[in-house]
Amino acid sequence: MPVEKAAVIGAGAMGSGIAMVLSQAGIKVVLKDVEQSFVDRGLANIKRMYDSRVKKEVMTQAEADKHFALVSGTTTYDEFKDVDLVIEAALELINVKVEIFQELDKICKPQAILASNTSALSISEIGSATKRPDKVVGMHFFNPAQFMKLVEVIPGVKTSNETVAAAQQLCKKMGKTAVRVEECPGFLVNRVLFPYLNEALWALQEGYKPEVIDEAVVAFGLPMGPLTLLDMTGIDVCAHVNEFLYGEYGPRFETAPVLKALMQAGHLGQKTGAGIYLHVKGQVPNKDEPKQLNPALAGILESVGKGHSLKNGAATKFDALRVVLPMFNEAVYAIGENVVHHSDVDVAMECGTGLKRGLLSLAKEKGLAACLNDLSAYQEKHGERFRPAWLLRKLVRANIHDFSDFSNFSKTTEATPQTVH
Ligand SMILES: NC(=O)c1ccc[n+]([C@@H]2O[C@H](COP(=O)([O-])OP(=O)(O)OC[C@H]3O[C@@H](n4cnc5c(N)ncnc54)[C@H](O)[C@@H]3O)[C@@H](O)[C@H]2O)c1
Repeated sequence: MPVEKAAVIGAGAMGSGIAMVLSQAGIKVVLKDVEQSFVDRGLANIKRMYDSRVKKEVMTQAEADKHFALVSGTTTYDEFKDVDLVIEAALELINVKVEIFQELDKICKPQAILASNTSALSISEIGSATKRPDKVVGMHFFNPAQFMKLVEVIPGVKTSNETVAAAQQLCKKMGKTAVRVEECPGFLVNRVLFPYLNEALWALQEGYKPEVIDEAVVAFGLPMGPLTLLDMTGIDVCAHVNEFLYGEYGPRFETAPVLKALMQAGHLGQKTGAGIYLHVKGQVPNKDEPKQLNPALAGILESVGKGHSLKNGAATKFDALRVVLPMFNEAVYAIGENVVHHSDVDVAMECGTGLKRGLLSLAKEKGLAACLNDLSAYQEKHGERFRPAWLLRKLVRANIHDFSDFSNFSKTTEATPQTVH
C-alpha cells in the first residue's frame, strides 16, 4: 500500500526531522505532540530545515513552500483516522509507547502500519500492545534524521514481511537506505559502535592521552575520533546506552568507570561545555582547531584510580585497531546470530555513522586469521571485551578468508541481504 498520508508522534528533535523527510518525499504529514507550544516548536524546526535547503540552493523557495505546506500540527488524534502509516518518536519509555500504540490501534484504519523510532525498546513488546502486531515495525532513524541516510527496519516477532517491505519502500521514497535488522539490543549500529567508544575510554583510563587516541583513529580513516564522538553524542546518553548493552550482552560491554564518573560530575560533553574536551557550550567544534582538554579530566581519572600518565605523558602511541577490532568483532557476533546479512554491515555502518572504511572490507584486507590473532592477543591482555566471535573462529578454521566466501558455504542458516537504497 503506498503511503500518501502519514502521522508523526512527538515533535522533538527526531519527530520534526522525520516529518520533514516525509513531506520532502511529497507525503502529507500530521505532526502530533502533547502541547501546542511543542507542536509549534517542531513546525518552526521544519521551517528552518527548509529555509536552509533554499539558502544552500538545494531547492527553490516555491518547492520548499509546497513541501512545508504538506505538514500540519495537532495535539489530538482527530486526523489519524485515514493515515496510511504512523511513525512514533515520543519519549523512550516503554509505558509511554505502549499507551500510544494502544491508542493508535483503536483510531487508525486496520491496514495502517504503526512504526516506532525507538532506539532500544522491544518492537515485539510494543507490537503486542496492539491487536495488529503484524503491522508494527521499528523504523530507527539516525540523528539528524533529515541528513542521516540510514534507517534500520526492525521487525518484531509477529511483524509480517509485507510490513517490512512497506517500511523499506517508504525509506526508498524518502531517499534513505533501509537495512533490515532483526530485533536485538542496540539493533545493529549502536551495538557495533559502542564497543568502539567504550574501548577508547578503557584506553584513556590506562593513560593514553585523548588526543593521541583520537588522532590515531582519524589517521586510520574514521571521520572522527571516539572521544570526540562521545562528547558530541553526550556522555550521559552514552553511559545509559552502554550500561543497557552491558546488562543485555554481559562482559563484552563492561562500561569503563570513567564514563559514569564524567556523567556524575556533570561533564556531559558539548551540551554542557565540557566532557573529555572543552567546548563552547552547544556549538559544533571546528575540526581544524586544536582541542583543549577538560582540566577536570585528570582529577576524574584519578578518582577512578587511573590517569597518572595523563600528567606524565607516558603513552603517546596508540594502535587504532584496539578500538576498531571490537566493532568488527561485534558485527561478526551479529552476523552469527542472523541479526543482519554480512553484505548489509558495511553499508549500515557507513550510512549510520559515516564510517568510510567498511569493517568487513577492512577485515578482508587484513585477513580473518590476523583479526582473530589480534583479538585473541587483546583478550589475553585486556579480558572479555575482546572475546572473539565464535563465527570468526569457525571461518578461520574452515580456511574461509572473507564473508562473501561464507555465503557460498552457508546453507540455510544465514540471514538474506536486505538493503534497499
Ligand atoms: N535523539 C536521538 O539521537 C535519537 C536517535 C534515534 C532514535 N531516537 C528515539 O526517538 C524518540 C524521540 O527522541 P527525541 O530525541 O526526538 O526526543 P525529544 O525529547 O526531542 O522529543 C520527544 C517529543 O515527544 C513528545 N511526546 C512525549 N509523549 C508524547 C505523547 N504521548 N504524544 C505525543 N508526543 C509526545 C515530547 O513532548 C517531545 O516533544 C525516542 O524514542 C528516542 O529514543 C532518538
